[in-house]
Amino acid sequence: MSNDKIVILTGAGISAESGLGTFRDEDGLWAQHRIEDVATPEGFHRDPDLVHAFYNARRAQSAEAKPNAAHDALAKLERDHPGEVLIVTQNVDGLHEIAGSTNVLHMHGALNGALCASCDSRWPAPLVMHKTDACPQCGRATTRPDIVWFGEMPYYMDEIWGHLASADSFVAIGTSGEVYPAAAFVQEADRGGAHTIELNLAPSSRVSDFAETCFGPATQIVPQWVAQELSR
Ligand code: APR
Repeated sequence: MSNDKIVILTGAGISAESGLGTFRDEDGLWAQHRIEDVATPEGFHRDPDLVHAFYNARRAQSAEAKPNAAHDALAKLERDHPGEVLIVTQNVDGLHEIAGSTNVLHMHGALNGALCASCDSRWPAPLVMHKTDACPQCGRATTRPDIVWFGEMPYYMDEIWGHLASADSFVAIGTSGEVYPAAAFVQEADRGGAHTIELNLAPSSRVSDFAETCFGPATQIVPQWVAQELSR
């Protein structure tokens, strides 16, 4: 693995065994809430109280969650190969960072971030946010969770496309491959000559795009894959 550049995409499945719900499994978040109500700018404009309540509940749950063996294994991989591992996560929990990963891009934002819808300033989110919270910068009561909603542009995309084009390996962990642009990352990495691997509980909708697959719970298959990488 010496001097290899590994880009790892993670989704809700890597945090499932830490007790955080996924979106599209049968008991997932999108079975309990309507996306248009809690994960779109229009939904926030229509009912900011409902949206803040949804993210306050997720923030409280995330604050109680602990990294699992999959998060820990990825942090070990980065420690043993500094500068060669990038995690691009669709997740808004902080479990990668708590496990010790430092090179992490949150393309869908993060529960611990707050954003002002008027002046675009950002600051650490309190555990509980309300629609009446004033922006510390402009003072307007237009604060929202710093989460990328459907219809909004994910963060860091230019940087991510560049990393994918020059990756030696691309590994997708715990994601259904249902949401773009993340679902297109495997094809971009493949085009750049990367070896592509899917580590998931079950085949994702992009499974046929991957050169290598391994199915099982992330807490089992991710440490196994990391051990193989470190022994190469
Ligand atoms: N170990 C490994 N994979 C798992 C586990 C587990 N213990 N449990 C579930 N999975 C897999 C499921 O098989 C599924 O393929 O994780 C994936 C979860 O898929 P989704 O619920 O669709 O989550 P994700 O892919 O992260 O969703 C992407 O959609 O709603 C938006 O912004 C939201 O970031 C999210 C994006």
